[in-house]
Amino acid sequence: MVRKLAAGNWKMNGTGASLPEVEALKAALSEPSVDVLICPPATMLSRLSDALDGSAIVTGGQDCHAAGSGAHTGDISADMLRDAGATHVILGHSERRTDHGESDADVRAKAKSAIAAGLRAVICVGETLGEREAANTLSIIGGQLAGSVPDLVTADRLVIAYEPVWAIGTGKVPTTDQIGEVHDFIRAELEKRFGSGVGRSVPILYGGSVKGSNAAKIFAVSNVNGALVGGASLKAADFLPIVEALQAS
Ligand code: 13P
Repeated sequence: MVRKLAAGNWKMNGTGASLPEVEALKAALSEPSVDVLICPPATMLSRLSDALDGSAIVTGGQDCHAAGSGAHTGDISADMLRDAGATHVILGHSERRTDHGESDADVRAKAKSAIAAGLRAVICVGETLGEREAANTLSIIGGQLAGSVPDLVTADRLVIAYEPVWAIGTGKVPTTDQIGEVHDFIRAELEKRFGSGVGRSVPILYGGSVKGSNAAKIFAVSNVNGALVGGASLKAADFLPIVEALQAS
């Protein structure tokens, strides 16, 4: 069925000084019963991939360009992420949508390119506080899914991360009912579009202020198959309790 995934998104944090954190994760998670992914900044990807070689922990990028190569100064292609050891790439994070004006169509094009390169796309969706207060959450999520997820996907090439924008880095977490409502909706949309085989096998992660102290409660919600963790993924001592809670769920 669905393989659970604990994913860390380091965002624009981390230098060589962070390598001991990764070594600590490797030592503590020799045979995890869930998938574990760390997405460091691009400058650290090769070093993390090398440090984690031979372990069960995999690495991913935080974005890629839709084109395979070319005149795109500062951008990184999916093939380059693969070359640096990545197996996954986060796409359409709300910070990319806000800071770089990425549209659903941009995210979809990037996802197509990532999947063609053999990466698993972790596609992020989520409503703003204003959209939730206007009772538009499900229509926003439905639109983002329809627009951002490419047509031809197999379950092992796709992860969906539900990250309410207002819960990211704020310490505010939706109620378990609110999380469950959105995750059930995403599952139903995936099944409707891709059929029950693929639709039931795609992991759906929750992201936004996940910590060791709230992880078990979140992982008990229906159709929550893991977490996409920001701040609490930077230190092994903070991330490990989250991985342990997922393993115990
Ligand atoms: P925080 O866990 O820091 O709230 O960030 C969540 C996130 O954006 C992960 O992609």
